[in-house]
Amino acid sequence: MALNDIREYLAVLEQQGLVRRVTEEVDASWEIGCMVKWGFQAFDEKDRFGFLFDNVKGTDIPVATGALGASEAAYAVGLGVEPHEINAKWEEALLNPIAPVMVDNALCQEVIIDGDDVDLGALPIPVWTPGKDAAPYITAIVVTRDAVTDVQNYGIYRTQVLGPNRAVGNMSPGRQGYQCIKSWHDRGEAAPVAFVIGAEPAMYYAAVTTLPFAVDEATLAGGLKQEALEQVKGHSVDLRIPARTEIVIEGFIHPGEMAEEGPFGEFAGYMGPVGERPVIRITAITHRQNPVFYGLASQMPPSESTTMQSLTNAGQLLKVLRHDLGEATVADAIIDKTFGGLLAHAIIAVRPGAPGNGKRIGRLVASISPCKRVTVVDHDVDIRDQEHLNWAMNSHYDPARDTVIIDDVFVPMHMDPSVRIRGGNTEPGSKIVVDATSSIDAGDISIPDRAIMEKAMTSWTKAGLPEITIPKRLRMRLDRA
Ligand SMILES: Cc1cc2nc3c(=O)[nH]c(=O)nc-3n(C[C@H](O)[C@H](O)[C@H](O)COP(=O)(O)O)c2cc1C
Repeated sequence: MALNDIREYLAVLEQQGLVRRVTEEVDASWEIGCMVKWGFQAFDEKDRFGFLFDNVKGTDIPVATGALGASEAAYAVGLGVEPHEINAKWEEALLNPIAPVMVDNALCQEVIIDGDDVDLGALPIPVWTPGKDAAPYITAIVVTRDAVTDVQNYGIYRTQVLGPNRAVGNMSPGRQGYQCIKSWHDRGEAAPVAFVIGAEPAMYYAAVTTLPFAVDEATLAGGLKQEALEQVKGHSVDLRIPARTEIVIEGFIHPGEMAEEGPFGEFAGYMGPVGERPVIRITAITHRQNPVFYGLASQMPPSESTTMQSLTNAGQLLKVLRHDLGEATVADAIIDKTFGGLLAHAIIAVRPGAPGNGKRIGRLVASISPCKRVTVVDHDVDIRDQEHLNWAMNSHYDPARDTVIIDDVFVPMHMDPSVRIRGGNTEPGSKIVVDATSSIDAGDISIPDRAIMEKAMTSWTKAGLPEITIPKRLRMRLDRA
């Protein structure tokens, strides 16, 4: 069943122990950011959980964070599937988008604050890297609309609070949100913008994808939910806003109005640089009765942002490879969860193909994805199991023969500390493709066949040895034995 709002999602996670409620009073200016850091840095993914801070100093608005990207398990709940079904869910949703519908009355507009009453200080906006970030940051879904085509864009861009009704957003050139804003400025008009805080999970996950410019991510959110997303017209901006949202901040970006943004702790594990970015003049804040503020936890990986981006980008990559490019040998794909799916490590499983298929697929992935490293293995390797992967690398890969270095690659970000900057410009970077598919038939594998192994399991049990949960790599090996 589709989750209709973030409250339903948090309730399911809490039941499953994937969200912990904190009832002690906390200060959003430092405690929330630091406590989330403890959670992500100190626990392995299988033990990680999101947070619901019920008692935030100076406000009656609770803060939820770290839940949408706590782990594969928490992310899967948001998609309404089991963790092993995440990639398939993305393929299905991308192939079957559903257009949103407009509603007249929306939860997100139960309370409307506009004019001189607008005050970002009334919201519990956390400082995520206390002592280092420039200010509290709203990391929310940013809705923009192209002035010419009317198509909306949804992206997640960090946004720094400048004052009661002013903020500055990290909408970098190249991002589709920036292109939408530019389309208004090219006409000499202010661009409408809305920050969507605490939307339904499908909308968050859809906003992370980069779809072709003419495609509205709200249709993808519908595909994920398998029903149309409800939208409502903004109170002070002509934008279509996801209706089942907790809090919406509306405003305009006027041509040429820029301010210094940053520093802000970033996904690469370092403080992101300071730069001139567009200023948002806030015109209204609308919200549900008794709203929950949802803040996305980013910064030092692994973080909520790196988990969300890696899982989303892997699902999208798989769909593009198999359905748009017709690469039928591609069986599975993951992106490591430590670098946000960007400049990261993609691992692709492929079925046997024509000679050179592994290298070819690897080069293809390197050119269509922002990943810096690409490893290709056979389809009977569990790409989520480091031990199985290492075995494939050690037993199949010859560095001189099976490595491709791609140089002179444009690197769009200043976030990767390996990228050199010269004369204010980013120097080209490079990529590596490792083809660890088996290029010869190495013969039968050295594990007894299934029948005799299963018989020995009876002996194991009789001997009173501890119960075995068969790992996927062993199941795959038994299938081959
Ligand atoms: C928590 C989080 C924070 C993010 N912050 C930024 C950001 O500040 N700037 C940016 O360009 N992308 C950021 N991203 C990545 C973009 O949201 C993502 O790539 C999205 O596809 C961009 O949308 P667009 O391609 O429609 O512009 C962030 C992602 C997450 C999950």
